[in-house]
Amino acid sequence: MQIKFVPPTLSGTGALALGMPEGGQLSGQALEVDRLSEGAIKRALGVSRFSGKPGQILEIVAPARLKASRILLVGLGKPEKFDSMAAERTAAGAAGRVFANGETALTFAVDAPDEAPCKGASLASHLAMGARLRSYTFNKYRTKDRDEHEPTLKEVAISTGDVQAAKRAFAAMDAVADGVFFARDLVNEPPNVLSPEEFAKRTQSFSKLGVKVSVLGEAEMKNLGMGALLGVGQGSERESKLVVMHWNGARKAETPPVALVGKGVCFDSGGLSLKTGAGMMGMKGDMGGAAAVAGTIHALAARKARANVIGAVGLVENMPDGNAQRPDDVVKSMSGQTIEVLNTDAEGRLVLADVLWYVQSQFKPKCVIDLATLTGAIMVALGHEHAGLFSNDDALAEQIARAARSVGEPVWRLPLGDGYDKMLKSKIADMKNIGGPHAGSITAAQFLQRFVNKTPWAHLDIAGVAWQDGEHKELAPSWGTGWGVRVLNRLIADNYEK
Ligand code: BES
Ligand code: MN
Ligand code: ZN
Repeated sequence: MQIKFVPPTLSGTGALALGMPEGGQLSGQALEVDRLSEGAIKRALGVSRFSGKPGQILEIVAPARLKASRILLVGLGKPEKFDSMAAERTAAGAAGRVFANGETALTFAVDAPDEAPCKGASLASHLAMGARLRSYTFNKYRTKDRDEHEPTLKEVAISTGDVQAAKRAFAAMDAVADGVFFARDLVNEPPNVLSPEEFAKRTQSFSKLGVKVSVLGEAEMKNLGMGALLGVGQGSERESKLVVMHWNGARKAETPPVALVGKGVCFDSGGLSLKTGAGMMGMKGDMGGAAAVAGTIHALAARKARANVIGAVGLVENMPDGNAQRPDDVVKSMSGQTIEVLNTDAEGRLVLADVLWYVQSQFKPKCVIDLATLTGAIMVALGHEHAGLFSNDDALAEQIARAARSVGEPVWRLPLGDGYDKMLKSKIADMKNIGGPHAGSITAAQFLQRFVNKTPWAHLDIAGVAWQDGEHKELAPSWGTGWGVRVLNRLIADNYEK
């Protein structure tokens, strides 16, 4: 799908999207089109429940005297609430309506209300972003009825008073959308295809964007003492990998990097603590944290972010073969701490323990942020609306929460504390890898914190948001959402690109 910016026009072919605020009246371009079509919109409004609420669309087919094939009058919601997120959702809704219904072109001629926080070139760029994020498909494995699933919409035009400024603003967002799509592809990819090795191979394509990528195999990780990560992968035929992506975009080369760490369990069967059949479905997505980190590095490099950022992803497959690690095993992590593995299905924290330790000792980062589909318990607490946020640093937590809110992928902070940490005491080793029956997401975070030094650190438990089973979100039209790429990109843009 092509996206272009054009000077104000009402004479495009295809669908013409116009806006109306909630409780408002037709004005601006919408009023103009109503006049050109001899009151067709007002007549339709008169017999409809459309009131301009966000998400509402009034569709009018082929009014006389217009080149357009149809009009989509889209609800903008309350004027003072029409921000960049509302603009993106609005555009996604309109693009979704005509994405695969035979229409090939869509022009946005949306006027922001005077009180709207998002207007002008910014509005145009966010409309474009909304349409772009909505345009994602994953049809590579369909050999039948492919046409039904492929979009018919080929061209989206955004009309704006300042074409150049809109183009400029969108260029960086377009790079971010590429990163989101990269992450979604990884999450959607089936696990017979996306092995740790295949994941690593795909990140190597970043070198053409100027990213330095290094891949460590099992022998190297063994030399580093990564017994926790290696224990998880040891029941799989496939080799575990650690991929480190370096984006060095800061003005000063010596600027300490931000380190992003991702859980990359390419398939989580549970290991010998085997999941049930139903519980195992979807566990191809257990590398969603690693996908978000890779997608973010892609985005930062593609938009040439002025920041130094390390992306490190621990890639393993958690399988139960004859060499698999057993419940009761004790493993030694790179940090030197020993772990009694009482449940092989609590594997994500074992992978992260070594990757967290590795990035701190290798790169002395300014801060470390890990993303992981870590616990089912986070869905009990927060459902699919918020990711869980844990941090040892209030300022970093606040930066993340603000970035997350502003891109519409919100987080909710949960507590850490000694009382929870005690729940990890082991009878024979430094710790066990599970807490008790309660506070499962917190004890998992507490486990990770044992592998964090004085570095400001935050952990995002994204088990509830990395993929979606029911209705798709407006801006995320596939199973894999790509959650986190936009949050991390915004976090870095707002705080680490001075
Ligand atoms: N990958 C799962 C967490 C998960 C569960 C993500 C459901 C998405 C949907 C993780 O490795 C896991 O199995 N966690 C266990 C931990 C328990 C054994 C302490 C869990 O949440 O049940
Ligand atoms: Mn597991
Ligand atoms: Zn897992």
